Amino acid sequence: MKHVYILTPFPKMAEAVIGESILRRAAEKSLVAYHLVDMRDFTEGKYRKIDDYPFGGGTGMVMMAEPILKAMDHVRSVHKSDDDLRVVFPTPQGEILTQEKSWDLSKEEALVFISGHYKGIDERIREMEVTDEISIGDYVVTGGELPAMVILDSVVRLIPGVLGDHDSATSDSFSHEFLDHPHYTRPEEIRGVKVPDVLLSGHHARIEEWRNAKREAITKERRPELWKRYQEEILETRADEKRRCTQET
Ligand code: ADE
Repeated sequence: MKHVYILTPFPKMAEAVIGESILRRAAEKSLVAYHLVDMRDFTEGKYRKIDDYPFGGGTGMVMMAEPILKAMDHVRSVHKSDDDLRVVFPTPQGEILTQEKSWDLSKEEALVFISGHYKGIDERIREMEVTDEISIGDYVVTGGELPAMVILDSVVRLIPGVLGDHDSATSDSFSHEFLDHPHYTRPEEIRGVKVPDVLLSGHHARIEEWRNAKREAITKERRPELWKRYQEEILETRADEKRRCTQET
């Protein structure tokens, strides 16, 4: 069983997401255990304050280091493993989340998410605790819970056994360089719009060919930079093979 610790001042936000759908199913199958850690439980004083004014002045508040450090001490005391913890901090300043990154995180036995708020967290937390700073895209949302849940969902669905059919994760967009092909279900015709004939043909080789052609066309049109990278990788692989062949002869 893998363990996921979510440090947040708003545990109900995370609770709502992990209590539904695939994330919930992963817990029901005992593949993942979620531990919500309310940072405010590690504050002092009546107001359970987790933020303070920034040194040097300026607008916005900064999350204080101490409640987060104490929450991390708590995680280590309950986790009881010598393994180094992978500590994810969602931030627009992080590396952009990719499927490759999600596969990498899905192999960890324990993950910790630190949800930031306000202007950010005290820089010393990044230095002392954070191993991975991840952005979910070039835009800003309020607080780290939603990005943490996006990252968590993309990771948990890759853990073997979580999806009913493990194949359905390996056929997602980005698992094979291309975006996904279109999907159709019943009825065969709706308001005059029909399902492509090939999908009704029962001819598996032709269906696969159609799907691959669609994947390529969609990728080329919508994500030219992914297409270009794929072309470059193919050229590189071919050049490598050629070099190996000439060395062998
Ligand atoms: N926090 C606020 N915006 C974010 C983003 N785009 N990615 C990760 N964390 C964030």
